[in-house]
This record gives sequence, C-alpha cells and structure tokens, in this order.
Amino acid sequence: MKKIIIEPFKIKSVEPISINTKIERQRIIADSHHNLFLINSKDVIIDLLTDSGTGAMSSEQWAGIMRGDESYAGSNSFDRFNRAVKDIFGFQYVIPTHQGRAAEKILFEVICKEGDIIPSNAHFDTTRANIEFQKAIAKDLIPDNFRDTQLENPFKGNMDIPKLQKLIDEHLDKIPIIMMTITNNTGGGQPVSMSNLKEVSRIAKNYNIPLYIDACRFAENAYFIKMREEGYENHSISDIVQEIFSYADGCTMSAKKDGIANIGGFLCTNNEDLSVKQKDLLILTEGFPTYGGLAGRDLDAIAIGLYEAMDIDYLNYRITSTAYLGKKISEYGVPVLLPPGGHAIYIDAGLFASHIPKEQFPGQALACELYIEGGIRTSEIGSLMFGDNAPHELVRFAIPRRTYTQSHIDYVVEVIKDVYDRRKKIKGLKIIDQPEFLRHFSAKLTIIE
Ligand code: F0G
Repeated sequence: MKKIIIEPFKIKSVEPISINTKIERQRIIADSHHNLFLINSKDVIIDLLTDSGTGAMSSEQWAGIMRGDESYAGSNSFDRFNRAVKDIFGFQYVIPTHQGRAAEKILFEVICKEGDIIPSNAHFDTTRANIEFQKAIAKDLIPDNFRDTQLENPFKGNMDIPKLQKLIDEHLDKIPIIMMTITNNTGGGQPVSMSNLKEVSRIAKNYNIPLYIDACRFAENAYFIKMREEGYENHSISDIVQEIFSYADGCTMSAKKDGIANIGGFLCTNNEDLSVKQKDLLILTEGFPTYGGLAGRDLDAIAIGLYEAMDIDYLNYRITSTAYLGKKISEYGVPVLLPPGGHAIYIDAGLFASHIPKEQFPGQALACELYIEGGIRTSEIGSLMFGDNAPHELVRFAIPRRTYTQSHIDYVVEVIKDVYDRRKKIKGLKIIDQPEFLRHFSAKLTIIE
C-alpha cells in the first residue's frame, strides 16, 4: 500500500468557483450582518458550512435519478429504497421523509409529551429544537472530561453510563425514549463505541425504554469502530452497521449525510402501532408513505448512496482527508478539537480567540474572519447556536462528501494560518436581532468596536 490515499473517484462534472477579493468580502460580510447563513453561495470560495446535502453524487446515483418512478402510490423507487434501508439497517417499518428533522418531528410528536426528558449522548440542534417544541427537555449525557477539547479518546462520542442510570433512577416515568447520535455532531463528529451502544441498549431494555439512533453519519461511525475498537478490525462495514442497529428499536436519518444525497431522510421503527401513528402524521405533513415528501428519483439516489457511503475505499479516503486538515493546522499550533472528527474539523474558538468572552460569540467572530481572509464559509457551534447550553465555542469545518480535492484543503490550511497569526485583532460580536427558535440561522450581528 502507498502512503498517499487518493480521492477514489474521477471528476465527471465540475461546478466553477469564482474568486472574489478581500475588500469585496468585507462588504459582503457587513451586508450579511455577520451571519454566514445570509451570504449567497456565489460569494463563497470554499463552502464548509455543512456536509449536509452538499456531497457530489456518483454516476450511479445520477443514473438512479433517471430511473426514478414518480408514481404517487406504489412507486418502484420506494421499493428500491425500502429494500436498501431494510437490508442495511434491519428495521421492519421504513418511513421516508424530506430530511432528518421531519423524521424527528414525527417521532417526537408521536412519542413524547410536555415535561418528558429525552436523554442522548448529545442532541443535534434540530433534534433539541423538535423536542423543545413538544415542551419536553433534551438532555445531553456526555462524560464531563470529554468537554475538554484537548483530551484524546478514541470514542469521545460515548454516552456517560452513570449519568444515564442516575437520570433513569430519578425520572423513569418521564423518559419515553433514549437517543444516541452517531457520530456525535455537536461534540466534534466523535464516534460512539459498540460497547457503549451495547451498554446503553442493555439499560434501555432493562427499563423498557425504546432506544433510537440518530443515524446521520452511521457509516463514518462504523469505520471508526473498525479502526479503533478491539475485535472489529476484521469485520466488514456492513456487518458493523448491522450490529449497531441490532441494539436499537428505531432510527432517524438524514440521507443528506451518509446517504450522499442532496435531500431526504427516513424514520425507522420495529413497533407496528407506532409506525401506524407515524404514517398518519406523515400523510398529514410530508406525503403518501411511498414518497414522504420526496420525489421518486430522490429515493433512488438515497438507496444507492447508502451503499456507497459504506465502501471501504471511500471511507478510508473520507476519514483520512478530514484528519489531514486537522493535522496540518494543529501542527501550526491552532487549537482543534481532538481527535479529528469524521465529517468535520472543529477549531476551539474559546482557545483560538481567548480574548473574546463567550457573550461576544468568539466562534462566530472567528468564522467571519475566515470568510474575510479567504472566502471560507464555516459554521459556529457555540453560544450563538446553543445559547447558555453551549459546552464549547467551536467553529466547524464540515467537509462535503467527494466535493473538494486536496488542493482546496491546502488553501483552507493557508487561510486558517493567516487568521491565526493575527488572532489577537479579532473583535467580538453582539446580536441586534434574533428569532425565537434556531436563532443562528437568521440572527443579525454587529461588531463590538
Ligand atoms: N441529526 C444530526 C446529528 C445532524 O447533524 C442533522 C443535520 C440532523 C439530525 C438533521 O438533519 O438537516 O436533514 O434535517 N445536520 C446538518 C449539519 C444540518 O450541518 O450538521 P436534516
């Protein structure tokens, strides 16, 4: 084997990037009220805002798009989708949704009521928001020492078992479901180990609480288990995936991540009664159960993408190329969340811009500087996104699947180094306008002079 791991694909179709100037970007960021969600993508050089729906589809997926059956009921595309999801994840009932949060909305509307508590290793923002929308409480149960971004642990996404046990001892009647997010996105794209999943599942079964997996990055998590967990080195990715989901009663999925599709998601369960209620809601808000808010062609793209995401050559390249970015910048002294995650690298902005207090959003301030310096769009995962619940002030560099090459990433490294050299000059921000839910998407901010 050679040392260099190459992109295991050739490029068949390209999308031009236009290169603007620093002066233009200074004006753009001011016009966008220091909120990168409000910038037009034509003004972005490297877009690392999200790995969600931004991946490049394969020629096979595009062929699947052409094969798409747009029949309202009984679509052949649904058959292919249903077969793939059942084959990979092993659940009995599969409900397509337009994206992950729609699956979350249906799940929590059916399963939880006011005052309930939903534990997870770490909820993503849409999951948290959907739980809170039901007037329930979303609880993150990450071990306290994992909050140290500099601590190295192979499975930093694990749930804290004693914390889960304590929560159950105190509030058993208020816990309708336990969630497990793989990989843990808000905590740094960190994987959950098989043994942790097994333990959580054992406890859940003991108390008759259903365990659901937020499966967005299931293939990346399976790869980490293969690479890092004793006893799994010779298992195939699909065997590991089968085992992961055998411990769960259902899952929510955004196919925009490890489905390598531009849109789509699903909700799975083994509980027939629940699936009937979920389908009733689906028809009300998403669509008929054989398309659920998607076009038939999207279902085909997902059915193919889910298998491609489990390809070992792809995963080797995927996880290695993400780690490459982390390694290059941490060698320069930039504080990154350790170890590198699967889908993203996270800079600890609390350490990077330690002169900016958290009330002045150091993560958002850094994200704006990265845009000005090199047209890189990243996202803040800190006090702007989570308010007082934020465990860290992070800036996430999410890597779209199969989209950028090594030279794009080398450019990103150069931009980060330049901002790091002048980090003391970065100024804090304050909010001048914000909505009630998920404020980071549309809040307006201004620089504190
Ligand atoms: N769960 C996790 C762990 C996620 O990362 C996301 C989305 C969702 C659920 C919701 O899925 O977007 O299809 O509705 N994460 C994207 C991100 C938006 O940028 O990390 P969705």
